[in-house]
Amino acid sequence: MSERRLYTLKKESLNAVLEIWNQQTPVYVPSGREKDITLQPMDEAQRTEDYINLTLPVKEMVFEQKEALFSWERGESGIQVENLAHRHAGNRILYGVRACDTYGIAYTDRFYLKEFLDPNYQSRRETVTIVAVNCLRAGKHCFCTSVGTGVFSTIGHDLALTELEEKYLVEVATEKGQDLIDAAAKWFAPAVSQLLQDKETLRQQVEESFPLKMDLTNLWDDMARTFDADFWLDEAHACIGCTGCTNVCPTCTCFNVVEEKQQEDRGERVRYWDSCQSDHFTRNAEHHNPRDAVSRVRYRIYDKLKYIEERFGYKGCSGCGRCTDVCPTYISIIDIIHAMQQTVREQATEPAVHQMTAMRHEIFDREINSRRGLYAPDVATITRMKQETPEIKRMFVKYDDPSLHEHYQHKGQFFQVTVFGEGEVPLSIPYGPEQQDELVFDFKNVGSVTEVLYQMQPGDKIGLRGPYGRGFPYETLKGRNLVFVGSGVAMAPLRTVLEPVLQHREDFGRVEIMASALRYEKLIYKEEMKAWSQVAGVTVHYALKDPTDEVKAHNGYVNDLLPGLNLEWQNTTALVCASPSRIKKVAKDLMTLGMKPSDILVTLETHMRCGAGKCGHCKVGSHYMCVDGPVFTYEEMMTLPPEY
Ligand SMILES: Cc1cc2nc3c(=O)[nH]c(=O)nc-3n(C[C@H](O)[C@H](O)[C@H](O)COP(=O)(O)OP(=O)(O)OC[C@H]3O[C@@H](n4cnc5c(N)ncnc54)[C@H](O)[C@@H]3O)c2cc1C
Ligand code: SF4
Ligand code: SF4
Ligand code: SF4
Ligand code: FES
Repeated sequence: MSERRLYTLKKESLNAVLEIWNQQTPVYVPSGREKDITLQPMDEAQRTEDYINLTLPVKEMVFEQKEALFSWERGESGIQVENLAHRHAGNRILYGVRACDTYGIAYTDRFYLKEFLDPNYQSRRETVTIVAVNCLRAGKHCFCTSVGTGVFSTIGHDLALTELEEKYLVEVATEKGQDLIDAAAKWFAPAVSQLLQDKETLRQQVEESFPLKMDLTNLWDDMARTFDADFWLDEAHACIGCTGCTNVCPTCTCFNVVEEKQQEDRGERVRYWDSCQSDHFTRNAEHHNPRDAVSRVRYRIYDKLKYIEERFGYKGCSGCGRCTDVCPTYISIIDIIHAMQQTVREQATEPAVHQMTAMRHEIFDREINSRRGLYAPDVATITRMKQETPEIKRMFVKYDDPSLHEHYQHKGQFFQVTVFGEGEVPLSIPYGPEQQDELVFDFKNVGSVTEVLYQMQPGDKIGLRGPYGRGFPYETLKGRNLVFVGSGVAMAPLRTVLEPVLQHREDFGRVEIMASALRYEKLIYKEEMKAWSQVAGVTVHYALKDPTDEVKAHNGYVNDLLPGLNLEWQNTTALVCASPSRIKKVAKDLMTLGMKPSDILVTLETHMRCGAGKCGHCKVGSHYMCVDGPVFTYEEMMTLPPEY
């Protein structure tokens, strides 16, 4: 809306207006006492004006604590998938929302409605109208004025009411807000803009009255200097991982997905709020977890005070104070900010390098990959299964709708693969762009979903979403020597590049393939590697823990073989897929040989749930491994906080 329209409403007329609105659309009003204030349908509850803030943010009206993403049903003609984004409570007017929560909504709009659009959030958000009522007093832990999101609502509302003696000044921010005015037009009088000056005077008075004021001018610098400070240990010892702090936060957006199997032949995938404060959040297969108790507690604070803003341009903390209110062990974001400031005042500390460097953030249009809405997969049929190693299989798959193979474009690095009724896992694309009508995956049987996938047979149905992620920059590799380093199933993502490189051999320098595993039987692509080694200028090297008679192999780590390659290292690019600790060891040795960190390409495969920058599980600093990566240069990897 271009013009900001102003009205006045007599205080005694408010109930009549709410009644009129409620006849058309259910109005939810603040109800309850003291610390237990919730938004309730006004037909069922007594409205109160005696409240500082709602106990829970209005986020739960647009991002439900638990909601269905899609349903699936197995019938004679295959599996039918239905997007359930539209299954929700319907139109609602939310009255009495405070500035910290309208700011939260403005941020969640930005977060869910751009890039990979979240259909569930969109369908709920479209049906909700928000009427802000500006605060005239502060709670004990309110600090919206310090972060700059309050004290009066400036964003995220449709209408904003400010109490000016016997009347409300009513500001219209959107068409939805104007519709509310029009629905009860006789109670609203056009207002003169002088009232905006009265409102500003009132705002300054309210701001002055806030008991908690913090100067956050140097906050990011203070954070950079206290990343490794001792006080984090105390916070980590105190935290019991109850997740209360993230549940009450208006800007927390993370979720987990689970399967609800209703019967053998049908079920739903649902999502529910999840939290970086629980230890499963970043856990990978075989129980590797890159975050310990200190990094868990610290991550929330850095995400709220820095990473969200760094990435999306919105404050990640709206200063509502709820996380401090609810924490059973008295962990307080306010005390932590004070501890940062005090530590920096008392000790000269160097800033952590990864807090001073901002790597690129990848924002691109991948709507092509969400044909049924972001979370509902397309159905595909397994055409063949091949045993690669005792625990790795290769699966060949065709979409049930063959036209989807035409839609599919060879960009991206992985698919989200659904086993209906069991779950979804990210699997890399291990083939080149020549693969037009069939998709191939190599996967290891490591846990609950891959175990069921492992037992599946040709003819069985799976679901596919994708491809997602940023792949290897094929074009930039031309003219260079290439070293491929992959361990076990980690060779799979490298094959995406290897296949086209071998088909266009003349475009590249020497190609060195470094395959490693515990035993020869555990290597994938055993036959292919023998064939690849016959190509001129291509050498395959094996590094195995146990000796073998099958091939000439080094017994030890792959690193031992690197100096013997005798490459012109300045003109070499390495592609490394392994665990983060192995990547670091290989990269260190390659740099000792003379390689630049920008010429070492790595894949960082963190815990992923959505694949599209929404669930939050894969996030490292302000970067989403699923969107910005998983392929990075080693130089970029070193600018990330060491929490992957
Ligand atoms: C971008 C990417 C590409 C991958 N490509 C391949 C591949 O080509 N072949 C292959 O065998 N494996 C690959 N993996 C690892 C694979 O996704 C995990 O082994 C798988 O998710 C384990 O799921 P599970 O339910 O069987 O095991 P569980 O241990 O029961 O895992 C439960 C959940 O944790 C998460 N999770 C567990 N381990 C991982 C992990 N290593 N990475 C990410 N999330 C994890 C998943 O969301 C999973 O649903 C890839 C991972 C990523 C992130
Ligand atoms: S981090 Fe705490 S104070 Fe900040 S918006 Fe979230 S709940 Fe409120
Ligand atoms: S990662 Fe950020 S948004 Fe997600 S639960 Fe943690 S603090 Fe909240
Ligand atoms: S509310 Fe407190 S104890 Fe619970 S997870 Fe958050 S910081 Fe930890
Ligand atoms: S944000 Fe969900 S996997 Fe990256």
